[in-house]
Amino acid sequence: NTPLRKRATAKGLIYGATSQHRILSSDKKFAARFAQECAILVPEGELKWRTIHPSPNYFNFKPGDWMVEFAHAHGMLFRGHTLVWHGSLPRWFADTVNSRNVEQILLKHITTVAGHYAGKIHSWDVVNEAIHPPHGRTDGLRNTPWLQLLGPNYIDIAFRAAAKADPQALLVYNDFGLDGAAYQDELRRTAVLKLLERLKSVGTPVHALGIQAHWWGGVTRLDSGKLKAFLRDVADLDLKIMITEMDVTDKKLPKDVILRDRIVAGIYEDYLSVVLDEPAVIAVLTWGLSDRYTWLSKYQPRKDRAPVRPLPLDAQLNRKLAWNAIGRAF
Ligand code: XIL
Repeated sequence: NTPLRKRATAKGLIYGATSQHRILSSDKKFAARFAQECAILVPEGELKWRTIHPSPNYFNFKPGDWMVEFAHAHGMLFRGHTLVWHGSLPRWFADTVNSRNVEQILLKHITTVAGHYAGKIHSWDVVNEAIHPPHGRTDGLRNTPWLQLLGPNYIDIAFRAAAKADPQALLVYNDFGLDGAAYQDELRRTAVLKLLERLKSVGTPVHALGIQAHWWGGVTRLDSGKLKAFLRDVADLDLKIMITEMDVTDKKLPKDVILRDRIVAGIYEDYLSVVLDEPAVIAVLTWGLSDRYTWLSKYQPRKDRAPVRPLPLDAQLNRKLAWNAIGRAF
């Protein structure tokens, strides 16, 4: 019956989840459960460019500030997500940014945002999802506006600016598709390792790898040998590891809720028991806490229209088998 945050803490780990200002400020029952189960809060969108930097000379810190307060009022840590990402760029970005002003705009964003929250952030996802091998580059980097305008060095620029603006935060490179047995995951692991090796070799201040861990029930296959070797390679670069966004898409799973919950819980348990074997792993975060609020309702709805069940608590805030599985893995 012990909440996940306590079970994790007892093992020297951090458990937490993402949520939103809108949800935590209006759904009191959910907010109370969140504070009970989580030791760290991740803002789902409040710190992304489109929300926090909606016009070139205006920063909107209100929702993020509210969330920091909420976290601290409940003895929770707070995460920064995310400073550089190809997703969630504001509308003004494409019209305004060019190769002459891009570095200054990036630096201003990071200095202002990371500076505003300096001292209040456990860890920053400084760069999110920079790898995409299908784009065909030998370094495996994703072809984003950042890459086009600044070259691969945009990653170094971002980490250096973040370190300067918030010297206390753990600086994280965050990405997905790193955990499966599929060939494309193998390519992504290789590219991420190469990137992290390069950053380390030139002294860029990166402290941890964030593994999103968006699993697909019935699709993603676990290869524990490959996964363990990868985690070891990351740890050997003197980096910490965080599982940053775990959830289990149940789109391809049977409709029967008992069966579906059992499969989802099994995936959490199998995955986390492998991952938590690696001492460099310091945190396990899920992308949401309760099935009441999950991005997958919108992004990966089931064909049969049955409500999705990817998270530790059900929509009534009751603990599911997945909750037990996570607790057991700690
Ligand atoms: C998602 C949010 O959950 C959605 O609400 C939003 O519309 C799009 O972004 N990887 C990430 C997160 O790093 O920022 C994404 O969050 C989910 C995938």
